Amino acid sequence: MNVMIRPSTIWPLQPDKALAEIVMAARLRVAVLCMDASPALMNRVDTAIHLLDLTMPGRGYSDLPQDLFDLAGSEPAFAPLLAARLLADATGRQIARAVPDTILPEFYRQAMRILRIDTPSLDDDAFRKDLSICLMLSFPCVAQVVEETGGVPRRAVTTGGIGQAMRLARHFATTGLRSGPYFEIHTHTPMLDGFNPDGWDRCYELTAELLKMRPDCLGLVGGSWFYDPALATVSPRLTYLADTPIAGGAFRVRLGASEEDTELATATSATRRTLVEKGEYMPTRWLMIWPRKALLAWAAARKGDVQ
Ligand SMILES: CC(C)(COP(=O)(O)OP(=O)(O)OC[C@H]1O[C@@H](n2cnc3c(N)ncnc32)[C@H](O)[C@@H]1OP(=O)(O)O)[C@@H](O)C(=O)NCCC(=O)NCCS
Repeated sequence: MNVMIRPSTIWPLQPDKALAEIVMAARLRVAVLCMDASPALMNRVDTAIHLLDLTMPGRGYSDLPQDLFDLAGSEPAFAPLLAARLLADATGRQIARAVPDTILPEFYRQAMRILRIDTPSLDDDAFRKDLSICLMLSFPCVAQVVEETGGVPRRAVTTGGIGQAMRLARHFATTGLRSGPYFEIHTHTPMLDGFNPDGWDRCYELTAELLKMRPDCLGLVGGSWFYDPALATVSPRLTYLADTPIAGGAFRVRLGASEEDTELATATSATRRTLVEKGEYMPTRWLMIWPRKALLAWAAARKGDVQ
């Protein structure tokens, strides 16, 4: 049975109202899914929630425990029921996870979308990101999903020459040699409508709000072919992705080229594909590092706050 869940027409919602609406819609979805579910399936979903709460904090969104797949078996109702059960507890989870109110409008939008997915699968990278959002371990921030398990790989000291090594050494000196945790951004296909300059600015603003609630977090990192300085000639339309953070005190380091980077960089652009085929462009992954203090200052300046 398919029940239409309509997003609220009254916007902006108060944060508590947004959560209440999510909880109501999620309970309705649980009730519908439970009509055809066995008590054994419900118990497996309960066990899965307990397992995820124990194992996923501090772990990458994609690194799901094997026990979760064993609990899911081949039951198609498992994944949607799991997501709906998690969202039905959004109010309690928001308090436990200290999620800033400013994230809630986007959380609301994504939660309502997740509740409408018919056949999610644990094997699907996009659903793993959604699950992390339901667990409030990743945060939908308009242009990107922001996860709190990022870091600067130590190997970056050797992947970009002496200048890069010295730049990183100066940076590590400011972090007490810590390489994490950082917030880390991920592109999420269902959120591509926010992948534009305004959506990215909002993403940085929301990350600043998250940073205020995580004093131990060192800043924001993102690894992608789209941070490569070569984009200035290859895809100038995308240079805003690096330019805004760099103007706000971020810096970037070269990580190296891989087949995956070529696949990603050529997936949507005929121009980049042609340049790769002609041997005139080698997609290369760079890591953007936006230190905490600089990002907070950028966000405060945008708000007109005095630092
Ligand atoms: C990252 C991504 C979402 C950016 O999308 P985007 O903002 O549309 O930018 P793209 O450069 O990829 O645009 C692809 C095509 O859309 C068209 N296009 C995009 N924006 C346009 C605009 N403002 N005006 C006109 N055409 C536009 C162009 O035809 C462009 O092709 P071209 O390079 O041959 O001109 C997209 O490249 C993508 O989905 N890539 C695969 C997944 C990926 O790399 N994810 C990131 C992992 S780190």
